[in-house]
Amino acid sequence: MDNLKTPVLIAPSLMAANMLHLLDEVQAVEAAGADWLHLDIMDGHFVPNLTFGPDIIHQLRPVCSLPFDVHLMVESVELCIGLYHKAGADHITIHAEATADLRHYLGVIKKLGCKAGVSINPGTSVDAIMSVLDLVDLVLVMSVNPGFYGQSFIPSSLNKVVTLAEARKERNLNFHIVVDGGVNSVNAPSLISAGADVLVAGNSVFKQPDYSLAIQKLKQG
Ligand code: DX5
Ligand code: ZN
Repeated sequence: MDNLKTPVLIAPSLMAANMLHLLDEVQAVEAAGADWLHLDIMDGHFVPNLTFGPDIIHQLRPVCSLPFDVHLMVESVELCIGLYHKAGADHITIHAEATADLRHYLGVIKKLGCKAGVSINPGTSVDAIMSVLDLVDLVLVMSVNPGFYGQSFIPSSLNKVVTLAEARKERNLNFHIVVDGGVNSVNAPSLISAGADVLVAGNSVFKQPDYSLAIQKLKQG
């Protein structure tokens, strides 16, 4: 994938939205030029927090035309793949730390007709996912410890983007490199030039006064 020809995509993270106005928030971010809607699913075990479940996603599906980018931060990978596929997920990303059988579950996701993603926590080396890069549609590099929006970007995540972009080129693959956590208009340029082509943004979209301007600023990287 030639990054120069690929404009970066912005995936606002719904967990940072105002939950009392969920419908308005989803519609506002779509109108503001978001490319994907990032949906963080937490189970209180894999991460110390809870967000929303399949019923909310199912209800949002008909009122939003953006691809639903489901990021599973859960222990029960098998159960959740089925639940979130049924609820309307277009992409399902699972964590390398959550299962010893990554290839199997990535295959399950693809068989269901969803795009398959793999994610690694800040403490996990990219070596853990090198053997599944041929299977995935996206790799999500966590640049904060998962669980909460609004945390600070961990700078060493940039090296992972570089390594993944090199592997993508060398092996002639075309998965997206997604960066998730603490992304803002200051670090976006270096992430994009390192090879990231999707930026997840909680705080830097939903906590800004003008969503359209916020998305434009991130894309300008
Ligand atoms: C954290 C989530 C992120 C988070 C991003 O565990 O995976 O998607 O909501 O929010 P910001 O951009 O505020 O770090
Ligand atoms: Zn996420």
